Amino acid sequence: MPSFRPPEVRELISKRRIDERVAELAAQITREYDGRTLVLLCVLKGSFVFAADLARAIALPVRMEFLGVRSYGADTKSSGVVQITQDLTRPVEGDDILLVEDIVDTGLTLSYLREQLRSRNPASIKVAALLHKPARVEREVEIDYLGFTIDDVFVVGYGLDFAERYRNLAFLGVLDAPSAAALPTA
Ligand code: IMP
Repeated sequence: MPSFRPPEVRELISKRRIDERVAELAAQITREYDGRTLVLLCVLKGSFVFAADLARAIALPVRMEFLGVRSYGADTKSSGVVQITQDLTRPVEGDDILLVEDIVDTGLTLSYLREQLRSRNPASIKVAALLHKPARVEREVEIDYLGFTIDDVFVVGYGLDFAERYRNLAFLGVLDAPSAAALPTA
């Protein structure tokens, strides 16, 4: 089935490459957490597609938790302010948490979330991130399972948005800036 691609989006990473990389990460996670139950903590909204694919490729008992976070608004620049819009529904004390992030850009969101989670006394916290933009790092954060390193471009698709658009694209793409600027915000 050909995947939907709006004309203003240029493909950066194909669905096939994403699928292959997710399978590799899941195999590594399965090996390293052998015999344990994993709490996959999906950071909403951007990670919902990655977390869904990763969860189904991990061959271990998995519990899903969701944390709603807002850091950008309708802009493409980090405000540095992280707002929790939806908290966990269950305690994570004593659990092995794998924080699932769509992209680590400045690192501010991830370092804030790590601190927040540490205070809830889990057994361990590790991080799986689909993408990393090292060019923009402001806060060094350790990523245990990384999908792809990318240049300093604004990416959409596979869960990632621009003003709430493009999350449903099957691949990762780059927005053609002039057309994107002309779009009304959602
Ligand atoms: P950070 O706090 O700057 O690391 O930003 C983390 C969050 O900003 C990510 O979880 C995304 O939701 C959003 N973000 C950063 N870069 C991009 C991008 O290129 N496209 C879409 N969202 C992005």
